Amino acid sequence: MGILGSDPYAALLGTPLGKRMVDSLGLPKPATLRRYAVDAPLLDGAALLGWLDDDHPIADRIRTIFDVEGIEVGDPFDTLPAAAVIVDLSGIAEPGDLERFRAVVAPSLKRLKSSGRVLVIGRPESSATTPAQAAARRALVGATKSVAKEMRAGGTANLLLVAEGADDQIEAAVRFLLSGRSAYVSGQVIEVSGGSAPVERTEWTQPLAGKVAVVTGAARGIGAAIAEVLARDGATIVAVDVPAAGEALARVANQLRGTALQADVTAPDAGERIVDHAHLRHGGLDIVVHNAGITRDKLLANTDEARWASVLGVNLESILRMNDAILGPRGLRDGGRMVLVSSIAGIAGNRGQTNYGASKAGVIGLTTFLGRDAQLRSRGITVNAVAPGFIETEMTGAVPFATREIGRRLNSLQQGGLPVDVAETIAWLSQDANAGVSGQVVRVCGQSLIGA
Ligand SMILES: NC(=O)c1ccc[n+]([C@@H]2O[C@H](COP(=O)([O-])OP(=O)(O)OC[C@H]3O[C@@H](n4cnc5c(N)ncnc54)[C@H](O)[C@@H]3O)[C@@H](O)[C@H]2O)c1
Repeated sequence: MGILGSDPYAALLGTPLGKRMVDSLGLPKPATLRRYAVDAPLLDGAALLGWLDDDHPIADRIRTIFDVEGIEVGDPFDTLPAAAVIVDLSGIAEPGDLERFRAVVAPSLKRLKSSGRVLVIGRPESSATTPAQAAARRALVGATKSVAKEMRAGGTANLLLVAEGADDQIEAAVRFLLSGRSAYVSGQVIEVSGGSAPVERTEWTQPLAGKVAVVTGAARGIGAAIAEVLARDGATIVAVDVPAAGEALARVANQLRGTALQADVTAPDAGERIVDHAHLRHGGLDIVVHNAGITRDKLLANTDEARWASVLGVNLESILRMNDAILGPRGLRDGGRMVLVSSIAGIAGNRGQTNYGASKAGVIGLTTFLGRDAQLRSRGITVNAVAPGFIETEMTGAVPFATREIGRRLNSLQQGGLPVDVAETIAWLSQDANAGVSGQVVRVCGQSLIGA
């Protein structure tokens, strides 16, 4: 049975009787999300583009992307159906300017097709020059997160904050947030900052061509999906997992024409072995995804030292130790990418998961620290994290039905995400063209109410 088949409610909705039942009881109706396919258009319809005043350089850049992609650009005030509405509010100076958000987005919402996109462009509050500007900039966070909760039929709304001087770094993020790659990403605030030269890359179907990518915990679940998506985007994969998962690991590696490395990430020499393997077999290392993770759930009162140590050891301490080699002179090449897998449990905390919540919050601390490390930035290396919400995997399949059903529906898209949704976000963070995004934590959670 496929991953989708494990959602009995979605299966019920697919039958005429089930649909009638759900309609009459007023139950949630999760939409089928538009997901990325290599040959799919960036948007399956027109884009509406609005801005604040005469000077709108970011909107102009976005228009260029649409021109290249052959996407029709409409006026927010005409009446055509559309696939996306984009509003460039990078120039806002005071709360009165926020009216432009309403004026552009409000009439567009009813015209958005299914899996429509709202993309709001702002500037970081941290660089505001007046109190009124700081207030107005921050107001966009509340506005975007609120509209994300009003989206229908699989639509998403996200806010892209573009630091002053980073206007030429936005293309990869804009493409991600409009495309089916971001199907399960909604209500997010993502910052693009300067720091590295813009990368001239026009190859958007194989953005990872020529890259060597290590994925830990790749034998199954989210890790296997990450390996698959990175390979689809052109990377050569080194799939890492424990010897006990050796058979499944070899299957993943062979299928993707990559190589398998049996290693326990907690072993003292795991980092060295990864670096050696990447050099010996593939000539170097460009992308590392720290995905391997475990849970050992118990209320804290019943958590013994072993349960505590194993979760912290696999999910956090191993990354710190492996990074000595991975970020060392023989490790990631200049321009390299590191992505860590956190969890919304690391943001909100979770009953019965004190060890896990600690480890995944630690991952965020590590990401924000490394993401702004001046030496790494000067080498063009970015470090980011994804924080998945409820993803349909063996891990969540083991959760009792009632709890699972609540986890699955308590988000704006009213459904669990798929491993591929986490993988697409990681693949995007791994692109060369994404040089301006570092130290960010992107939730892949359908705007879960947990920790929002
Ligand atoms: N499934 C979800 O809903 C969800 C939500 C939030 C975060 N996550 C995180 O996503 C990541 C992947 O989760 P998943 O659901 O695919 O889990 P999973 O249990 O299906 O897969 C985890 C993989 O990691 C490997 N692994 C475990 N310990 C290892 C070690 N010491 N060395 C090497 N490999 C090891 C396992 O063998 C397994 O193949 C984890 O970090 C998890 O915490 C998952």
